[in-house]
Amino acid sequence: MIIHIFDNAEQIGKAIADMIVEQVNEKPDSVLGFATGASPVPTYKSLINAYNEGRVSFKDITTFNLDEYCDLPKSDKNSYYTFMHENLFDHIDVNEEKVNFLNGNAEDPEKECVRYDSLIDEKKIDIQILGVGRNAHIGFNEPSDKFTKGSFRVALTDSTIDANSIYFDENPMPHFALTMGTVSIMRSKKIIMVATGSSKQDAIFNMVNGDITPECPASVLQLHPDVHIFLDKDAAARL
Ligand code: GLP
Repeated sequence: MIIHIFDNAEQIGKAIADMIVEQVNEKPDSVLGFATGASPVPTYKSLINAYNEGRVSFKDITTFNLDEYCDLPKSDKNSYYTFMHENLFDHIDVNEEKVNFLNGNAEDPEKECVRYDSLIDEKKIDIQILGVGRNAHIGFNEPSDKFTKGSFRVALTDSTIDANSIYFDENPMPHFALTMGTVSIMRSKKIIMVATGSSKQDAIFNMVNGDITPECPASVLQLHPDVHIFLDKDAAARL
């Protein structure tokens, strides 16, 4: 794990965006895995700036998102589909046909997960962006007694419901989601994690210094050969 500590989220966003721009300029048809949550938003802003400044084009990339809520219309303001379009895809020249999401409303979630995993296996993710939950979840892989493999339907924990329900004012927050599994995430060639704020410091400490255990899902990243962790000083406070 290579750990980068910055003063603020904006600097982190610029540094991660630079890595992504370099990757896409070297390989225009790169496969990028994107994450939602507040943490990657400054990165997405910097990617939009890079695109507006003519430093990069995303027209040939393929994207995969980590996860999606179940039982929430795609058009809902809190769906991850909407989040990614509002925060990134609507502002760059990505080809919508190459944008991939798990369908949280699929009639047969198992079949949907198999569909998604075979697409990922076929394309292979060059860079996967990750945030981390306060309980060290990655994607929506919650603490558990075993590591997950491919995509699956997950019951969200109270910690995650508590953290994410601030965004839900009209409809209640869904209690289930579809998420890429741990093994799928680990197959990405490069992983870039971003975490900011003191609410993440225990998760970061355990991820870096703790045992590799499914009770701390992010700890599995210790086994990946090419992981960059971008932290602000608050998230890094216990390291
Ligand atoms: C959600 C997402 C995760 C994300 C986490 C942290 O639970 N499914 O992928 O990492 O939120 O979000 P934030 O960056 O807002 O703290």
